[in-house]
Amino acid sequence: MTAVSVQNLWKEYDGRVVLEHVSLEVAPHSFIALVGPSGCGKSTFLRMLLSAETPTRGQILVDGEQLPGEPTADRGVVFQRYSVFPHLTVLENVLIGLEFAASPLLGKLFGKARRKAREEAAGMLAAVGLGDFLALYPSQLSGGMQQRLAIAQALIKRPRVLLLDEPFGALDPGIRAEIHVLMLKLWRETRMTVFMVTHDLSEAFHLGTRVIAFDRPRNRPEERERYGATITHDLAIWPPKYPVADNETPPGGTTRPLDDAGAQPGRPGAGQ
Ligand SMILES: Nc1ncnc2c1ncn2[C@@H]1O[C@H](COP(=O)(O)OP(=O)(O)OP(=O)(O)O)[C@@H](O)[C@H]1O
Ligand SMILES: [Mg+2]
Repeated sequence: MTAVSVQNLWKEYDGRVVLEHVSLEVAPHSFIALVGPSGCGKSTFLRMLLSAETPTRGQILVDGEQLPGEPTADRGVVFQRYSVFPHLTVLENVLIGLEFAASPLLGKLFGKARRKAREEAAGMLAAVGLGDFLALYPSQLSGGMQQRLAIAQALIKRPRVLLLDEPFGALDPGIRAEIHVLMLKLWRETRMTVFMVTHDLSEAFHLGTRVIAFDRPRNRPEERERYGATITHDLAIWPPKYPVADNETPPGGTTRPLDDAGAQPGRPGAGQ
């Protein structure tokens, strides 16, 4: 189980502050739902957790260790669309992750190792309900099935942290409800720590153990460059979605809006 510590994180693009003062202690096995207006930096935050983007300042620790400078197998990711390879079958889409993990240069396994990897990939696909569709290509799948495939692809590498960027946003409500059930089941079984961006508040409250809202405390046009978004609300969801052992830290969060987070004196570096 994996704890994540985000310490005074800032992100600027060309001197324009997008995120500022983002600090967050995430208990192991949390399901963090991230919400906030379009453009406030939610995807940027996930990309920093993935190491696809470097913070301008501040740091992220995973189980006390600084994040590596590039994406690694311990952090999986699923996007709203285009997470899967269209030219590979369902089985190959999942197998490829195992092949590249075992053989980074060739991306191929042979003989017994390949048979074992196929079994593992097929098992993961069965777990997400795609066991009968191994030979199909993504274009032959529905949107919900493609997202199940993307989830299987992310989970096969057994990430400790799963990053989801509006993964269910394009799905019909019925399919979405089904995939929510699946997601909670996988989260419980794998004990992963999950960060999920969503525009859907009911989804955030349904899946999350903690709902974090990002927003810009100052949003006047002349302040847009100098002030970014930060955490404005941090809500622990109660009752918890999993039994909390006596010795386990609760998922954290407060049930009150944070104070005006942008009003601290001595703003280090806000575009200065
Ligand atoms: N590579 C980049 N270069 C310059 N600016 C960027 C870059 N990536 C993101 N931004 C800017 O950072 C801000 C935050 O973008 P981001 O995609 O993180 O927002 P978001 O909260 O995920 O929005 P949405 O809800 O629409 O997906 C935006 O103003 C965007 O234009
Ligand atoms: Mg986004």
